[in-house]
Amino acid sequence: MRINKECILPIIIGSLTLFNNAVNAIWLDTNNVTTIIEATALIAQGTLDYYEGYKVGGTIGMFTAPYYWWEAGGAWGSLIDYTYFMQNDTLVPTIKAALLYQTGQDNNYIPLNQSTTEGNDDQGFWGIAVMGAAERNFSNPEKPEQAWLTLTQAVFNTMAARWDEAECNGGLRWQIFQWNSGYDYKNSVSNGCLFHIGARLARFTGNDTYVDWAEKVWDWMYGVGFLTEGDWWFVYDGAQIESNCTNITKYQWTYNQGLMLAGCAYLYNYTQDEKWLNRTLNLLNGAQVFFNNSIMYEAACQPSNNCNNDQRSFKAYFSRFLGATSILVPQTYDIIRNWLVTSANAAARSCSGGTDGHTCGLNWFVGAWDGYYGLGEQISALEVIQNLRVGDLPGPLTAHTGGSSEGNPAAGYGTIQTNASPLKLNSGDLAGAGIITAIIGVSLIASGLWLII
Ligand SMILES: *[C@@H]1O[C@H](CO)[C@@H](O)[C@H](O)[C@H]1NC(C)=O
Ligand SMILES: *[C@@H]1O[C@H](CO)[C@@H](O)[C@H](O)[C@H]1NC(C)=O
Ligand SMILES: *[C@@H]1O[C@H](CO)[C@@H](O)[C@H](O)[C@H]1NC(C)=O
Ligand SMILES: *[C@@H]1O[C@H](CO)[C@@H](O)[C@H](O)[C@H]1NC(C)=O
Repeated sequence: MRINKECILPIIIGSLTLFNNAVNAIWLDTNNVTTIIEATALIAQGTLDYYEGYKVGGTIGMFTAPYYWWEAGGAWGSLIDYTYFMQNDTLVPTIKAALLYQTGQDNNYIPLNQSTTEGNDDQGFWGIAVMGAAERNFSNPEKPEQAWLTLTQAVFNTMAARWDEAECNGGLRWQIFQWNSGYDYKNSVSNGCLFHIGARLARFTGNDTYVDWAEKVWDWMYGVGFLTEGDWWFVYDGAQIESNCTNITKYQWTYNQGLMLAGCAYLYNYTQDEKWLNRTLNLLNGAQVFFNNSIMYEAACQPSNNCNNDQRSFKAYFSRFLGATSILVPQTYDIIRNWLVTSANAAARSCSGGTDGHTCGLNWFVGAWDGYYGLGEQISALEVIQNLRVGDLPGPLTAHTGGSSEGNPAAGYGTIQTNASPLKLNSGDLAGAGIITAIIGVSLIASGLWLII
């Protein structure tokens, strides 16, 4: 952790000696690979300051409170790409241990002790991490049921099994478990994860059943109005089942735009169907709402200074998905490159805080550290900078281009946690889940007024 009570004295001393910060602040020249390597090494190190796996009483794979389990899946995905983009294996054992420890007893990323927090989107982000591991030929696990591709298929299959025609004519609910509030909500991030993972599995395995699924998810999301039409395609947050998914919550988040954008890019790269090219380009147009003078920001909460811990990490995944899109659909490269270069420079300038002098901030417009710090701030800066390397290295592998991870199309069948899970929780867990959801609910309401305006 970058800032804690023991660090207050050094901060005071540090502010007396500004010189100290200037020495440590991150230096980035986006045309100079050495500076990219050095900058991301410092930021990755700062990311792991929040890792509890090797601390006393810590759990392998988890980051310190208040970061939820899902964000750990997001962060490991960022660090997998870090090892690839920087061609640096130092963190591989740490990342591999984390990914394997958290698979859950059924190797499908539904560990029972996360059942008060885990929704479809949470499972999805761990699925996206292991899909990335397969596409990068990340060090293969020994057990076949834990092969990266097999784990991704288990995530996909268990999610697809929860497809729910009974309400709103289809779609995934936000939550897996009935006792978590949000069970009555269907949203873009859960369905976007299924779409996105399906698109990547299709391209990796060459199995068109995944294309059919992606198509089905897209059509449903479009049908209920989670995706808007026109030259600028937007992705809205979701809707309550009670309204038959007609009363849409119109918040837009970077990671949702990115999930759909990159999903389309993977599908176009695989199918060569113009339809997916057009959707890629229209979602890219819509992505402009998340940039101001080409600097990325979380438009729904950042200007009002009320992004919660989850939301403060969304720019990380958005950067990752933009990078992938730019390489899979080369027509998008120049636009995305300009956004990444400008945003990476701005992010690097924000990485000048804390006692180490290179802790990253949230708001990249400031030209310096803005006082925010956390896991989300670290991985967002890491991803936007490391994706500058996307054009220098081969794109995501497939089974036909050297991807060696073994799959099992039936992974996860028979282990499916569904809406009727017999799991029992004690009342303490239930109360905890209620409080968590209430906090998320309040911050959702509090944020995003910019759209209505
Ligand atoms: C979750 O359960 C596993 C297996 O029982 C245990 O090893 C792990 O420490 C638990 N994690 C947390 C965060 O409680
Ligand atoms: C609910 O919405 C779907 C379209 O999303 C529609 O096909 C269905 O008829 C609607 N059901 C009711 C009861 O209005
Ligand atoms: C598909 O992606 C690869 C990068 O992995 C890229 O080299 C290729 O040009 C893409 N194909 C098309 C048709 O865009
Ligand atoms: C393709 O994927 C589907 C869905 O998971 C699976 O049922 C089928 O066996 C797979 N086909 C092949 C040839 O692997």
